[in-house]
Parts: sequence; C-alpha cells; structure tokens
Amino acid sequence: MNSQLEQFPLTRMRRLRSQEWIRNLVAENHIQPSDLIWPLFLIDGNDRVEAVESMPGVFRYTIDRILPQIEQAKNMGISAVALFPLTDPTKKDEKGSESTNPENLICRAVRSIKNNIDGIGVMCDVALDPYTSHGHDGIIKDGVILNDPSVEILCAQALVQAQAGCDILGPSDMMDGRVLAIRNTLEGEGFHNTQIMSYACKYASSFYGPFRDAVGSKASLSGDKKSYQQDPSNGDEALREAALDIQEGADMIMVKPGMPYLDILYRVKKAYGLPTFAYQVSGEYSMIKAAAEKSWIDEKSAMWESILAFKRAGASGVLTYFAMDLAKELQK
Ligand code: PBG
Repeated sequence: MNSQLEQFPLTRMRRLRSQEWIRNLVAENHIQPSDLIWPLFLIDGNDRVEAVESMPGVFRYTIDRILPQIEQAKNMGISAVALFPLTDPTKKDEKGSESTNPENLICRAVRSIKNNIDGIGVMCDVALDPYTSHGHDGIIKDGVILNDPSVEILCAQALVQAQAGCDILGPSDMMDGRVLAIRNTLEGEGFHNTQIMSYACKYASSFYGPFRDAVGSKASLSGDKKSYQQDPSNGDEALREAALDIQEGADMIMVKPGMPYLDILYRVKKAYGLPTFAYQVSGEYSMIKAAAEKSWIDEKSAMWESILAFKRAGASGVLTYFAMDLAKELQK
C-alpha cells in the first residue's frame, strides 16, 4: 500500500479508532505475561520482607519469602525472574570475593528456587557491585577499574551461579571481553545450555539510583561508572557493543535503561535480529510511581504505555518492576 495515495475523506484514520473492539482488532502490538522478566531483591535471614523506600511497591525478601512470589509469578505466566542481592556490608571487600562463594545469598536462592519451583526461568546478574566495598562492577587499582582481572572474577562468579542452577546469566558489568570469557568457562565446565543475556548496551545512567539503594551499593559507590558504562551521547557505539557480545557468544542481548534509549533498542534489533530485551530500570519505575502518587499521571495507563513502547520498538520482552502488576491486570 502506498500511503501517499490515501486521501481524505476516502481515508479517515479515526474510523479504526472509533471503538475499543476495533482498536483491539487492529493493534499492532500486545503485551503478554510471557514477555516479562521480573527483577526481585533478596536479603539474608528468615521470614522477612523489607520495603525499598525509593521504589514504592518493591520489596526485599528472604529466600523463604521469595519462593511464594516466584510461584505466583510462574502461575501468572511470567517467563523469568532476575535476582539481585543485598549483601551484608561485613561480607563486602575490595575484590567482591563474596560473588564467587557458592554459598552466597544468590546461589542459595537459586538452588532453593530450582528445588521447589519448576517452569520459570531464573536469571542472575554477573557483576561485582553488590559485593564490592567501593560499589563498582569490577576491581580497582589506583582509582582505575581493571578490565582483565575483573573478567577473571566475573567468570568465577558466573560459574558458581551456573552450578547453582541459574538459567540465564546477565553480565551487567561492561568489562570488555567478558561474554567470551564467561562462555568459554561455561563450555569448559559442561554448562552448554546456560544462556547468556548480555547487558550489551548499558549506559552510564542516572536512572539506576533507586536500584543502587535497593542493593545497598549507593552509599558506598565512589565516583561514577563512566569509564566502563556507555556514554549517553552515543548510538553507533551501541551497535559495536552489541556486535561484540553476539560474536562472543551471547544468546540474547539487552538495552538498558529502557525508555530514554528506544532508538538504540530499535537499531540493535533491526541490525542483528537477536532476541533483544529492554530493561525498564529502577528510575523509570520510580518516576512513574512518584508522579502517580502525586496524581500527576495515571499509574496504570503510564505503565501500559511504557511497556507497549518497548514492544513497538522491537523488544522481545521487558525486564520490569511492574511485571506482577501487569500480569495481574492481564488476568482480569
Ligand atoms: C549492576 C546493575 C545495575 C542495574 C542492574 N544491574 C546498576 C548499575 O549498573 O549501577 C540497574 C537496574 C535498575 O536500575 O533497575 N551492575
């Protein structure tokens, strides 16, 4: 169809918008629970649930309390959960050693989920920031984040997570060469089917603030992450990042944050056609929540609109703190 031939009044665009049923019939994009990955925060201990202050409606759970949440997510059709730990400050050090402890909170949680719940994917971040005393994703020497020594630790972290039963590893650290190193580690240890969803295009963003609060890395973070996360001025660079991760063995890639980077999502999906995900990050979530609390915007419709925008831009799915709210709405 050549839209230049369309002419008023033969064409009236409003005809197909006139009632809800016809809008539904011609909708180009839909959201399903299976499109969603639900990020969840963990704390040590028993029978405890803590509110994350900067993220209304988001909580940190002990392992026993997170299991029913995940069971419910599975029953609602959510495809996967992504786990993030709040690490006890006494377990943090310069090298993030706790990240490679097979008995760390994340590994215990993954084992427990896998022993108790079938049929939902479990994703784990590969990055050192929840474990380092300085809050960076790699190790530091003289104020510089070291690449190759960080990658070595990341491989050890990836391995204990795979051994615990993690389905999807999400390298979110932005060190160079880490996807290849992790993939080789997994292949070498027989984890042929452990998937990698790399945070391929991850920007040095101010929208991660509430998340750093949730995992307790905010207070300790020294400086910024601009020497390893991407510069928001750049788009072509994101295509190179994605290409490298794909060549290094990523099964799926992610663009993060979400809404300010829809152009990147669109370009990366168009260029490579890989399953490509958007992470609607903590700041995006909290902005919607905060504005809704003030009645400045309508929370539900802003939530739908934001997720539809990702799908329209080409996302295979979305990591979002709204996952459970969306799934509940979809069941109605
Ligand atoms: C850790 C990590 C971050 C997020 C996911 N993994 C924060 C960061 O890089 O500082 C952010 C998620 C969010 O804001 O919701 N590397």
